[in-house]
Amino acid sequence: MPKPLHLIVACAENRVISRGGRLPWAIPEDWNFFKAQTAGQIVVLGRRSFATWRSAARDGRRPIVITRDLAIARDGVQVASSLDTALAFADTLPGEIYICGGERIYAEALALDRPMTLHLTLIHAAVEGDVFFPEWRHLAWRETARRESADANFRYTFFTLEKQSGL
Ligand SMILES: NC(=O)c1ccc[n+]([C@@H]2O[C@H](COP(=O)([O-])OP(=O)(O)OC[C@H]3O[C@@H](n4cnc5c(N)ncnc54)[C@H](OP(=O)(O)O)[C@@H]3O)[C@@H](O)[C@H]2O)c1
Repeated sequence: MPKPLHLIVACAENRVISRGGRLPWAIPEDWNFFKAQTAGQIVVLGRRSFATWRSAARDGRRPIVITRDLAIARDGVQVASSLDTALAFADTLPGEIYICGGERIYAEALALDRPMTLHLTLIHAAVEGDVFFPEWRHLAWRETARRESADANFRYTFFTLEKQSGL
């Protein structure tokens, strides 16, 4: 039985998620939220995202890295050659499935006909960058939670959005 998916992302109003292979911001509250939310769960992510998060396997997370480079596999880190393969494997493991990017993986996941929850930190700024979260606003989301926050540099909102399959 396929599990519901969780997508988790921090993106700017112009949908930027990365610049030059790094997060274009440092927002400790959001990073702590991301780590707490994914702790103990299955995290599915692309090879470049994994390269920037070497501690992905800490705190009981089970990473599945999507890549053609099988050499990345090691104790506690699985690899898969496609999102479909990653999800077929993730469905057999205990825990929730968190899709952690990057761009193409988010796009493929959003197109799937599965129930999903989007944990979106929307940063209220247009930020320069070169990797984007796909347009999500046109999909039939139901907002189930919202919390506003800010630090010295940014205002941001933590949204929880849910979508049933078949929408
Ligand atoms: N703000 C956020 O919330 C957030 C979230 C995630 C990532 N990021 C940032 O985004 C950047 C990385 O994102 P990215 O989009 O450039 O790269 P990515 O998706 O993390 O990694 C790209 C690589 O993953 C593999 N891959 C991705 N999609 C695939 C697919 N559908 N099928 C097969 N293989 C696939 C390929 O690996 P091979 O070339 O090895 O085959 C590809 O070169 C990083 O800077 C990261 O920090 C930000």
